[in-house]
Amino acid sequence: MIKISDDNQLIQQALRMAQKAWAPYSGFRVGAAVLLADGTVVGGNNQENRVYPLGSCAERVAVNYARANFPERQIVAIAVASPDSDEPVTPCGGCREVLLEAVRAQQGADIRVVMADRTGTRVRTALVTELLPLAFAFDGKNRT
Ligand code: THU
Repeated sequence: MIKISDDNQLIQQALRMAQKAWAPYSGFRVGAAVLLADGTVVGGNNQENRVYPLGSCAERVAVNYARANFPERQIVAIAVASPDSDEPVTPCGGCREVLLEAVRAQQGADIRVVMADRTGTRVRTALVTELLPLAFAFDGKNRT
């Protein structure tokens, strides 16, 4: 766990995390770094499994670690990057849903998603709510 602040440092941390990914099946290593409101950064990387559907994306590993260990701290941003990609890595649909859970149900504040390529210089940014328009809106309160 380290304390950092700007996007570039967050991307560099995501790229460092990608070096520790377990991705022998796809060969596509991904790292993620989550910035919490107090400046704490927690990381994750993709963890694949020989039973392919059991693998986890880097973003989900990082966000769930943050939620599990620091549920009271707001998630401000997440960087995602891969040393195996010439283009910025964009989160899959499932990870967008997981991020939206934090935004809508848990913290009520949007999260910046910083997406980068292998060099950390080709960068796109978007809010989670922009990445998942027309999201499923069930709030869990409709049961009788
Ligand atoms: N992957 C991630 O970890 N994050 C993404 O945003 C896209 C895909 C992983 C899943 C799998 O281990 C590998 O990349 C190839 O799809």
